[in-house]
Amino acid sequence: MRSKIVAGNWKMNNDCKQTKSLVKGIKKTIKKLSLENTRVLVAPTFVNLSAAAKRAIKSKIEVVAQNMHQASNGAFTGEISADMLKSIDIKTVIIGHSERRSIFGETDELLAKKVNTAIEKELEVIFCFGEQLEDRKSDNHFNVVKNQLEKGLFHLESIAWNHIVLAYEPVWAIGTGETASPEQAQEMHAFIRNLLEEKYNTSVADTTSILYGGSVKPSNAKEIFSKEDVDGGLIGGASLKAEDFVEIIKAI
Ligand code: PGA
Repeated sequence: MRSKIVAGNWKMNNDCKQTKSLVKGIKKTIKKLSLENTRVLVAPTFVNLSAAAKRAIKSKIEVVAQNMHQASNGAFTGEISADMLKSIDIKTVIIGHSERRSIFGETDELLAKKVNTAIEKELEVIFCFGEQLEDRKSDNHFNVVKNQLEKGLFHLESIAWNHIVLAYEPVWAIGTGETASPEQAQEMHAFIRNLLEEKYNTSVADTTSILYGGSVKPSNAKEIFSKEDVDGGLIGGASLKAEDFVEIIKAI
């Protein structure tokens, strides 16, 4: 059975003190929830990973990274390697977030390299992808998503998919307050699962968690998560307030 996952992407928000207090707030409330087959992840900035992990001890919260570099080490000023993440016990990394793609110019080819390094290092990858508004308006969204998956992930052997979580995030819904309707999310998730079945097999299709991301909030989470092929969410803005994030976790 595939896991349900609610992941908070804190982006470039929260200093050290705020990070600790947010982890503490989430930890306190989720203690009372029975989270069977459900994982709760938070992704603070690199500098706050250790502080967050320390606060998350003895809780269901898993602390994950927002990004990593594809090389193992070397002259890459300002970058962070997979081994560095592993050395502080981080087990999961987000790769290919739309902000990495659009603001930092990360291409499908580069993302495939990052995925390879992460898999080689036995890190779990949350791989993000999704179409722009123009793609959806021109009815090209399925092609765009297929292309992103083919270039970023479909070179992997099926065994590597034990380490992959997918996050479909239509770019037009990220941070805009505009969400894909539950039907639009389900339609795309079913399309993706079908691609996995075609490219790999039923086992990969059935066991890969596919998260939805883009303006998920307490008021719409339940309806989105109720869809058969939506296995949880990658949450930006609404993960910055413990109460809202916990409401979203409850929705699953
Ligand atoms: P949002 O961000 O929930 O603020 O739209 C989602 C994301 O960027 O992963």
